[in-house]
Amino acid sequence: MAPSFDDGNSLFNFVVRDGNGVKGMVDSGLSTVPQAYMQPPIERIDKDRARKHGHPPIDLSKLGGPEHDEVAKQIVRAAENLGFFQVVNHGVPVDLLESLKDTAHDFFSLPAEKKAVYRDDVSPTPLVKYGTSFVPQKEKALEWKDYISMQYTNDAEALQHWPEEIRDVSLEYLRTSMSMVRKLLQVLLENLGVKPEDSMIDVLVDKKMVNMNYYPTCPNPDLTVGVGRHSDMGTLTILLQDGIGGLYVKIEDDSEFGKKGEWVEIPPVPSALVINVGDMVQVLSNGKYKSAEHRVRTTRTKSRVSIPIFTMPNATAKIAPLPEVVEKDGNTLYKEFVLADYMKNFFSNAHDGKKSLDFAKINSA
Ligand code: OGA
Ligand code: NI
Repeated sequence: MAPSFDDGNSLFNFVVRDGNGVKGMVDSGLSTVPQAYMQPPIERIDKDRARKHGHPPIDLSKLGGPEHDEVAKQIVRAAENLGFFQVVNHGVPVDLLESLKDTAHDFFSLPAEKKAVYRDDVSPTPLVKYGTSFVPQKEKALEWKDYISMQYTNDAEALQHWPEEIRDVSLEYLRTSMSMVRKLLQVLLENLGVKPEDSMIDVLVDKKMVNMNYYPTCPNPDLTVGVGRHSDMGTLTILLQDGIGGLYVKIEDDSEFGKKGEWVEIPPVPSALVINVGDMVQVLSNGKYKSAEHRVRTTRTKSRVSIPIFTMPNATAKIAPLPEVVEKDGNTLYKEFVLADYMKNFFSNAHDGKKSLDFAKINSA
């Protein structure tokens, strides 16, 4: 029996505690958005005011060929300004991208009990977590999103612990993405004057996580957000989005990409993947590369799926701006920290734009 969604407690119990998710709430028949999901006006997304990001996707098949330098420049420019770009000829088979989206829809269509076994406090494995919103206990307004998150340690553990319905495509996605991620990091590091050894890149992408995000249809997209303003905490994120759209990035400084403070939409491009710079790359580059602030709107008629791969160093890693960069810059913007401490701060606060980076800033309290 669906509870009254006007009552905050029974809504929380149904959606969060019992694992029915936003999907369960929507399926129970909802004609308006419950109070708990109403964003304050300042966080609402006016889709008519956002431009589409017009840059064509970067063709990664040209890396290593005669046009290598030009392509490398495009990657660097995007990472320095917007922190977001799209790539094609990325090495992930296009039919796998289609299967991933279909598989995500199938997974979230399973009965709630099937997904709820992976809720944080009851999951049979620390590698898999099913949840809704970001930190529901702390958020003033909840995000209109359910997700499942799968940490990668090795193939054997993934095969053993990841949900079997989504395991094989997710592993294949991870397997076929990683050489692209390494090439991108190589380009970004070389541009900083660092000779990237394989071992250094190994450290930067030591931990990997595949998520599937599900944004159910929403009766009032103007009042809600799918994901609130945030940056990703890790190294690079690879994101597969479907054709629905609604992913927005904030422009940090006036540039060829637009005016400071403006939000641009990263439009769906068939067979492309979206890449975004995470907080760790901003720190390592001493602020040269921008970890982009982004958010997702909800839609009325069709549910949206997206499938990110998050890469990051090991939790025990010590992170600080690269010495080569600090030397050249003559100053350092970020202090050295242990990644576990950064993560603890990141995952215990509601999304709030790029506030996560304050943790690493030198002159902040
Ligand atoms: C995320 C995210 C964007 C999207 O999962 O961190 O920003 O399009 N997702 O779903
Ligand atoms: Ni994100």
